[in-house]
Amino acid sequence: MSLTLSSKMEYLADSLPLLISARAKQMIAEGIDVTNLSVGEPDFPSPANVKEAGIDAIRNNFTKYTPAAGIPDLRKAVSGTLKKDHNLEYSPDQIVITNGAKQAIASTLIALLNPGDEVIYPYPCYASYVDLCNIAGGKPVGLETTQDTGFRINPEQLSNLINNRTKAIIINSPNNPTGAAYSLEEMKELSELLAKHDIWLISDEIYGKLRYDGEPALSFASLPGLYEKTALINGVSKAFSMTGWRIGFLAAPVVLAKAVASVQSQVTGSPGSISQKAALEAYTGDLSETERMKDAFSQRKELITKLLRDIPGISFIEPEGAFYVFPEVSGYFGRVAGDNTIRNSMDLCQYLLEDYHLALVPGSAFGADKHIRFSFAASEENIRIGVSKFTAGLANFQ
Ligand SMILES: Cc1ncc(COP(=O)(O)O)c(C=O)c1O
Repeated sequence: MSLTLSSKMEYLADSLPLLISARAKQMIAEGIDVTNLSVGEPDFPSPANVKEAGIDAIRNNFTKYTPAAGIPDLRKAVSGTLKKDHNLEYSPDQIVITNGAKQAIASTLIALLNPGDEVIYPYPCYASYVDLCNIAGGKPVGLETTQDTGFRINPEQLSNLINNRTKAIIINSPNNPTGAAYSLEEMKELSELLAKHDIWLISDEIYGKLRYDGEPALSFASLPGLYEKTALINGVSKAFSMTGWRIGFLAAPVVLAKAVASVQSQVTGSPGSISQKAALEAYTGDLSETERMKDAFSQRKELITKLLRDIPGISFIEPEGAFYVFPEVSGYFGRVAGDNTIRNSMDLCQYLLEDYHLALVPGSAFGADKHIRFSFAASEENIRIGVSKFTAGLANFQ
């Protein structure tokens, strides 16, 4: 007899990009001065008023289980935020507070999918979509988007993928890793197509407030025909620099919200009580620190794109949102520097890390091997140092 694990674990094998980040951490621990432009979280502390709310929660012994779907005040606050930001009407019983946006996505997929149900995911995308879909028993179906169309979904291509096994599509705008974000006009065009089909739209709007193209935060749920089909996912992680507090939410039709709350009650009981109080402050309190962070991201975006534009042999789209730039670097594949032959994005990232002490994420982590991802959730100084290391690394190729 042998003890075995679920075959699902095959999907969860450590990815190569995780090896890069583990190696970067090891180098830093060894005292090597690694410039880290690989992180997917703001470098600012959480806002002071949010931290105080968390401390108050502990002092007031607000440290017990809460309702599975979250504390009523926070569900109400989220409903108010959705009204204010998007003019969307969600009653608190349509809101489920989750342990981060990621858990909202996971629980939604568990609640929606039967074995073999197909979920369309435009890529490049956040890698967890594929893994979570597999864990939930679904079949992820990729829809490639490319730089020459600004990483937009081609409606014809999407129509061709939809069939009677299609249960949902996951759209992430603004997007990790590309920085692409749909305009209202583009969203309208897509919504006309999606409204015609009986498929759920899982709309990951976690970077919604971080836009640099003059557009406000936009939600697919506010477009005609989509409210009843949309699982709107957002949270405090990115816009409020609260990644470690682990608070996200789902806003959806009651039937889905109830199902997700049931999944959550079994899997985790409830989100953390202290973090919920902190998130309540984020949604209802003073927003000046978050506005400052957004302005800083906007300036950093200007800086990093200006610096990258001067580098020969790469190209990229101007990020419209999130905090990433995703240059196409395949012109350097096949080139040699010392003992290194660069065949793909992973090789390039490994070379830059080992020889130039610069940590970036290979595009293969997001399904786009011709690219690499820079995060500009880093200080201007680190952005300057990082891009100069990158320039020096590329210049060294024969
Ligand atoms: C596109 C996208 N969705 C969801 C998440 C997860 O957010 P959270 O930390 O709130 O779980 C991330 C985090 O990197 C992300 O990039």
